[in-house]
Amino acid sequence: MTTNTRGVHIGRRLSDSKRPGETEILKVENLQVSFPTDDGLVQAVRGVSYTVREREVLGIVGESGSGKSVSSMAVMGLLPKSARISGSIRYRGEDVLAMSERKRRGLRGRKIAMVFQDPMTALNPVHTIGDQLAEAVLAHDLIPRKDALARAKEMLDLVGIPQAEARLRSYPHEFSGGMRQRAMIAMAIINNPDMIIADEPTTALDVTVQAQILEKLLEVKDAVDAAIVLITHDLGVIAGMAHRILVMYAGKPVEIGEVDQVFARPRMPYTVGLLGSIPSAAVSGERLQPIKGTPPSLINLPPGCPFSPRCPLADDQCRTAEPPMAETESGTQLAACHHWPKLAEATDPTAFFRTNSETS
Ligand SMILES: Nc1ncnc2c1ncn2[C@@H]1O[C@H](COP(=O)(O)OP(=O)(O)OP(=O)(O)O)[C@@H](O)[C@H]1O
Ligand code: SF4
Ligand SMILES: [Mg+2]
Repeated sequence: MTTNTRGVHIGRRLSDSKRPGETEILKVENLQVSFPTDDGLVQAVRGVSYTVREREVLGIVGESGSGKSVSSMAVMGLLPKSARISGSIRYRGEDVLAMSERKRRGLRGRKIAMVFQDPMTALNPVHTIGDQLAEAVLAHDLIPRKDALARAKEMLDLVGIPQAEARLRSYPHEFSGGMRQRAMIAMAIINNPDMIIADEPTTALDVTVQAQILEKLLEVKDAVDAAIVLITHDLGVIAGMAHRILVMYAGKPVEIGEVDQVFARPRMPYTVGLLGSIPSAAVSGERLQPIKGTPPSLINLPPGCPFSPRCPLADDQCRTAEPPMAETESGTQLAACHHWPKLAEATDPTAFFRTNSETS
């Protein structure tokens, strides 16, 4: 059993779930997204690269505004028209950014599905749950409507909605928040996707319901053999649910690696600071101060490492040159920090943050 920051108990273990395969289904390379605004160009995503393998759960974590949602919406093709996008997104080798809108619609919902924080953004209040689930099937499959409704019932059963047959005739407002989120998961999996992108799927729910929904996500992942990209503020959720973790800061990945690896040996001070906020996973086991300060504005970012104003290890090099993502002592763990070897040498890297918080 895994406990996260808010005391959510995720009973179903990731180790009980199907193992990731070797095949990469999604490959994002140097993705950049900016938005022209009246105040200037917002550089929301500044070079994001990651891969997702079959059946893998990749956890993406980072403070509000770090570009988690924008980078995922780019994969889904759901960004507003004003967005300037560059880089490469490949789904099973196919260039997603070069696809026609028709082909992209086929990818969305059928191969890659999304679960949002607020189910009401995906559910239509004036149609029954059954109609909406059936429509989701019929948008991609020419099958009789009664078969689509039968599939809808099967999905509601799978996500744990009691009396699924009767519930097909309910409207979204007749569902509780947790049930709506289950219905949205049902909608996401109804076409047997390869990958589910879940953006803060449980943030709006209370702790007990959160745990049930997260467990259900792991269960349905196995039922439909999908990979998951799980976006969350909560490192504890990632500890319980993900194989690999991608840490974002100011529009860029700053650390990526296997969850066990990164939790045991963080190589980027921002990750160290984040880990300090979860007692069960903290490197030292002791609760630390939260990271002081706020992330930088994404308009006119100053040179150097964007974390430098908040980093206890920052020096002149950090303030002038932004560090690239680079291999650490382990080839499977990358970090963007000039001084990661200092974290590797330290017996307790979190001590840097304690010293900083005690003296400032
Ligand atoms: N349509 C838009 N126009 C201008 N700026 C935008 C637009 N959409 C997002 N942004 C900006 O892009 C940055 C990244 O936003 P994003 O929604 O990806 O953050 P996030 O990491 O998902 O944060 P949160 O945890 O709060 O959901 C933010 O600074 C946000 O204000
Ligand atoms: S590059 Fe410098 S400022 Fe940035 S995280 Fe590393 S030590 Fe801190
Ligand atoms: Mg977001």
